[in-house]
Amino acid sequence: MSAMLNEIETLGREALEAIADAPDLKLLEELRVKYAGRRSRLRQILSGIGELQPAERPVIGKVAGELSRAVEAALAARHEQLAESDVSAAIDVTLPGRRPKSGVLHPLTRIADDVIDILRGMGFVVADGPEIEDDYHNFDALNTPADHPARDLHDTFYLKSGQLLRTHTSTVQIRVMEGASPPLRIISNGRCYRRDTVDPTHHMVFHQIEGLYVDRDVSLAELKGTLNLLGQRLLGEGTRTRLRPHFFPFTEPSVEFDFSCRLCDGGGTVTAGKSCRVCKGTGWIEIGGAGMVDPAVFDAVGYDSERYTGFAFGLGLERMAMIRHGIGDIRLFLENDLRFTRQF
Ligand code: DAH
Repeated sequence: MSAMLNEIETLGREALEAIADAPDLKLLEELRVKYAGRRSRLRQILSGIGELQPAERPVIGKVAGELSRAVEAALAARHEQLAESDVSAAIDVTLPGRRPKSGVLHPLTRIADDVIDILRGMGFVVADGPEIEDDYHNFDALNTPADHPARDLHDTFYLKSGQLLRTHTSTVQIRVMEGASPPLRIISNGRCYRRDTVDPTHHMVFHQIEGLYVDRDVSLAELKGTLNLLGQRLLGEGTRTRLRPHFFPFTEPSVEFDFSCRLCDGGGTVTAGKSCRVCKGTGWIEIGGAGMVDPAVFDAVGYDSERYTGFAFGLGLERMAMIRHGIGDIRLFLENDLRFTRQF
């Protein structure tokens, strides 16, 4: 009798181990046939119990019966595990596919790409500069010495190191001119920082695109021509450009430039008697600052200001994007609220 008990015990250990390790459903089925099928050794033992000695029957019957139930339970448990991880069993390949959500470009990225594309077409190349700057590149070299009143307008963030967060992308003009000789034609796009109180039209983080062209005999007419082409490509063929006298320390003469309003076509009204809501009835939209590079800036970077002239311009991207998409609050650009960004 003990020989048969030993056999059952060995059989049980072998079966339970093999079932627990079964690598896939197909092999599990083979194990089921082998250990629990009609012709398995276990079935043979169970159906042969009647032929055993009467004293052996209850003992063998009990042990074999227990093993039979253990094998069934192990088969069921392993089947469940494998079915869960078996891709072909878990996925219904006849279901329609899920459409992947595709991201969209941020409105500021889009407008920057558009402006850069247009200016590239006119021969400008993209240059880059650091956001953490020093007084020299942000102010001094741009003809804005420490006691210059224009420094107040910038409300600068200073770091403990004495460095600062650039207040405009005009810093890149200096960085580029320090490292290259004329002629050059660059644009630069990036973040700027000012200690402004945040409200619907002001933010302490904003973006500018800067342009600089230096060569012999560069004229104000070329500046206007360049801005005019930019306006037409960006906003439409009929767009006109207006220069207004202004002051910047790093340009002389300096201007602010406007594009004619696209909604009212420069007329100031869309419906009779009502002023246009985009340009507030003026017919013009303020875009940025510009001018002829001040000779003092050329002196700072070691360019011969007798020999070279140049123009520069800077424009705010948030403003352009707000006008383009009719966005009423500058804070939306930085909040990354998907309900906002998904709309573009
Ligand atoms: N840096 C000026 C600002 O942030 C904008 C500007 C004005 C840039 C005139 C220029 C320029 O390049 O020529 O207000």
